[in-house]
Amino acid sequence: MSQQVGVIKRINGSLVVAEGLKGAKTGDAVYIGELRLIGEVIRISGNLVALQCYEDTSGLSPGEPVIGSGAPLLAELGPGLIGEIFDGLERSEVEFWKLTGPFMRRGVKITPLRRDKKWYFEPGAKPGDEVGEGDVIGVVQESSIVEHRILVPAGLRGVIESIEEGSFTVDDTVAVLATPDGRSVPLKLVQYWPVRVPRPYRERIPIDRPLITGQRVIDTFFSVAKGGTAAIPGGFGSGKTITLQQIAKWSDADIVVYIGCGERGNEMADILTNFPELEDPRTGKKLIERAIFIANVSNLPVAAREASVYMGVTIAEYFRDQGYDVAVIIDSTSRWAEALRDVSGRLEEIPAEEGYPAYLGERIAELYERAGRVVALGKDKRIGSVTIMGAVSPPGGDFSEPVTSTTMRFAGALWALDTDLAYRRHFPAINWLRSFTRYVDALEGFWIKLDSQWKMYREKALAVLEEASRLEEIARVIGERALPNDQRLILLTAEIIKEGFLVQNAHHKVDTYCPPEKQVKLLKIMMGFHDFASELVRLGVPVERIRSLRSVAELLRLKEKERLEEIDSAYERVRKDLEKLKAEYQVAR
Ligand SMILES: Nc1ncnc2c1ncn2[C@@H]1O[C@H](COP(=O)(O)OP(=O)(O)O)[C@@H](O)[C@H]1O
Ligand SMILES: [Mg+2]
Repeated sequence: MSQQVGVIKRINGSLVVAEGLKGAKTGDAVYIGELRLIGEVIRISGNLVALQCYEDTSGLSPGEPVIGSGAPLLAELGPGLIGEIFDGLERSEVEFWKLTGPFMRRGVKITPLRRDKKWYFEPGAKPGDEVGEGDVIGVVQESSIVEHRILVPAGLRGVIESIEEGSFTVDDTVAVLATPDGRSVPLKLVQYWPVRVPRPYRERIPIDRPLITGQRVIDTFFSVAKGGTAAIPGGFGSGKTITLQQIAKWSDADIVVYIGCGERGNEMADILTNFPELEDPRTGKKLIERAIFIANVSNLPVAAREASVYMGVTIAEYFRDQGYDVAVIIDSTSRWAEALRDVSGRLEEIPAEEGYPAYLGERIAELYERAGRVVALGKDKRIGSVTIMGAVSPPGGDFSEPVTSTTMRFAGALWALDTDLAYRRHFPAINWLRSFTRYVDALEGFWIKLDSQWKMYREKALAVLEEASRLEEIARVIGERALPNDQRLILLTAEIIKEGFLVQNAHHKVDTYCPPEKQVKLLKIMMGFHDFASELVRLGVPVERIRSLRSVAELLRLKEKERLEEIDSAYERVRKDLEKLKAEYQVAR
């Protein structure tokens, strides 16, 4: 291919207009200026090409050259991804700091995967084997947790000519493939994929299992499926980051891709220093052994956030194709959408709502559509999933703004954070009246195995909470004591569900993670209490008598018990106390 060369005409922030670059296509990666800053072709009109530059353009001048790569922006995929902290262009933060310190990073060329490191490759195929795209030719133990499966890249098939066991760098040839058209293609540990193109799979399959997060309000009431999507909108300080970090730590995903789009200045610095140290409670090792971080450090321009999201999702799909359940966490998608707005504004496109481009909805939909549960390409029917969970930060907490309202249309689950709840220190501050999940029916099978009555408990608890919020309004006017007893019981049960179930302290040793079995048991006991207490109320027992029982107060603390038997015995005490009250009132009749 002849090299594409152009010349810079104008520079407007991250937007660079160049002349020339014959043959360049929209989406092609380009190197801009003497410093070879990384960018992408976003629009071509005649002889002029609009480029989005992902690095700081200050000091760049008209007349400097632009070189087209002739290929789209690619993700480099292979052993060495796990445990890395990359910037949005897949450059290692650690390498950056070694090379340049925190500041001068422009135009620095760092390959995503380390070139010097050797990986032990164990072949899973032998000479003479016929293989096609997506087949596993061998494995590398990448971290103590992750076995990296080396796949035949998409579009390739043939017969294995040779394959070798041993220590290799990502660039070494581990096998040679004889293709039907008579070529010998070397297979390496590294391969490439354009970040904006979803990776192919054999077929999508129905989602049927939850991503267990150990967070009760999420799993029990508003769960997300493995392969599904969830959005968590909320104003500043309402708990988006803490909730997503809890999910990163505790969810039963095999691999976590965490994309940080710098909410606050020091947040990324926190991630860089804290994440490598985070314990992985599920394995007893470090979280970094099964996680990849993409940090949009604040000295990269906003435009880079745009690319970083696709970079992260592409890496996730690559591990999905190996047969893993991958959780993608984006904090926050609003910062990503702002990058879209920034670029659109500089292109002088006609803005839609609040300056966002008209294609905002399309882009958000496309992003979330990259989630899914699939059978991967290849013979052995590997099943993997990508679950995408994104924070949304509406300015002023106003959910009607474009990014939030659009995201709410596409997300499978919505965890609506509520500033009032956060203010009252009800955490996670997920509003149970405004949140939803579209996965209840798909996931029912999982929960019913734990308790056949699960769906009934869940619906009943939600009904009690809803009714209670209506009654609270009335009680505010006429006073709680003026309400009839059955309604006061609704308020009492709702209080027990809120305090004893919905509120979950991320910093409490036991409460930080609640296994599904315990969630089901707690809910069952609370709804069992409600049924029994309703019976007493019908007999004329005042709610005050029920409320003042010590065993009932204990219901609020059951969540802190580690062993399920302790929960059972606490409930036995409640039953005994209620039986006693019942006997008293039956005699009185
Ligand atoms: N589940 C939780 N348990 C305990 N505290 C929480 C929880 N969620 C949020 N918080 C509190 O709220 C504060 C702000 O949360 P954060 O996630 O940083 O908000 P956001 O990302 O929405 O701006 C945290 O520093 C913490 O004190
Ligand atoms: Mg945050």
